[in-house]
Amino acid sequence: MVEKKRTRIGLIGCGFYAQNHLHAWTDLKAEGADLVAVCDLDPNKSAAAALQFDAKAYTDAKAMFQAEALDLVDITTQMGSHKALAALAAEHGVAAVVQKPFAPSWGECIDIVETAKRHNTWLAVHENFRFGTAMRRVRSVIDSGAIGTPNWARLGFRTGYDVFKGQPYLANEKRLVILDVGIHVLDLARFFLGEVDHLSCETQKRIPTIAGEDTATIMMRHTSGAVSLVESTYAARKIPDAFPETLVEIEGTEGAIIVTRGETMQVTTQGIFFEEKIGSALLPWTSRPWHGSQEAVLHANRHMLEAFRAGRPASTSGEDNLKTYALVEAAYESAATGQKIRPPVWIPRV
Ligand SMILES: NC(=O)c1ccc[n+]([C@@H]2O[C@H](COP(=O)([O-])OP(=O)(O)OC[C@H]3O[C@@H](n4cnc5c(N)ncnc54)[C@H](O)[C@@H]3O)[C@@H](O)[C@H]2O)c1
Repeated sequence: MVEKKRTRIGLIGCGFYAQNHLHAWTDLKAEGADLVAVCDLDPNKSAAAALQFDAKAYTDAKAMFQAEALDLVDITTQMGSHKALAALAAEHGVAAVVQKPFAPSWGECIDIVETAKRHNTWLAVHENFRFGTAMRRVRSVIDSGAIGTPNWARLGFRTGYDVFKGQPYLANEKRLVILDVGIHVLDLARFFLGEVDHLSCETQKRIPTIAGEDTATIMMRHTSGAVSLVESTYAARKIPDAFPETLVEIEGTEGAIIVTRGETMQVTTQGIFFEEKIGSALLPWTSRPWHGSQEAVLHANRHMLEAFRAGRPASTSGEDNLKTYALVEAAYESAATGQKIRPPVWIPRV
């Protein structure tokens, strides 16, 4: 039997969240992933990651692309650098996975997608919430038909957890909660209920010391006719705090699904009720309360690897993620104008 070529992976940006990606790629070695190179502008960070994960260290992404015959690059830097780094990957004919948010603006997201298209390179966005154990289980219950056709949902990421401690740069973001975490919840709304016709959004700034909005309440009408409420906040003050879980309530023509704190799922199907403890796994490198999000990185990376190796688009391809990012844009526009907004649509220029 001919053994399939292994996938040579480089990672750019060895910061806070990248630690999960580094562990996940290492866990995927048995499935064909070879993490061969890591890069960070900060030589201490690249050296530490290289030592821990047995890869070669770089401080210059261009030098890494030139020296290594990479198949795929994982871009885990903050969004401001994504466009330039994704362009470097495309110019070197290397597939790229870009962390969310894709870029700071709609126009730059389109530039990234079109640059990859021009170079005919594979492109995906690391949008991991839909790969979490709990969210995948919800989707499988919907797919089973147990609740009939979903026609209403409330999806909420409501916390008071101090996200600014691990990610201090968030305090200076002018577009904060929708672009940082609302984007995940908006993606879940698409994942569960399909595309969106129009939405309206109210934002609030309840934490006076930060630059952007900390709370967003978004109401959406999906093209199927379903209605969803997407809530995100960093300003909830309540015990217990569900961080970093997304709480879910979905109603359909034949039943309902509720996911409560602690990843307990309650399903009603044609008048019958059952409860299931979903429970994300605790891996050797994950810790509470982050473990569900961390495990979702492993599932997301596995999906990226399988899709790339099979030559098919990821479920969160660059093009797919434009549809999620369009909801972010529409939400900010609605909050600014007080109007109902239709999400922008990408009309390819290449
Ligand atoms: N999916 C999730 O659940 C989740 C959670 C947290 C963060 N994130 C995302 O992960 C991304 C990174 O966030 P973070 O908090 O880890 O940021 P961070 O600042 O801790 O890490 C980014 C690293 O990238 C390096 N870097 C920047 N530009 C570079 C370049 N041109 N070449 C090489 N290295 C470069 C920096 O030196 C830094 O070490 C963000 O887009 C963030 O939104 C996602």
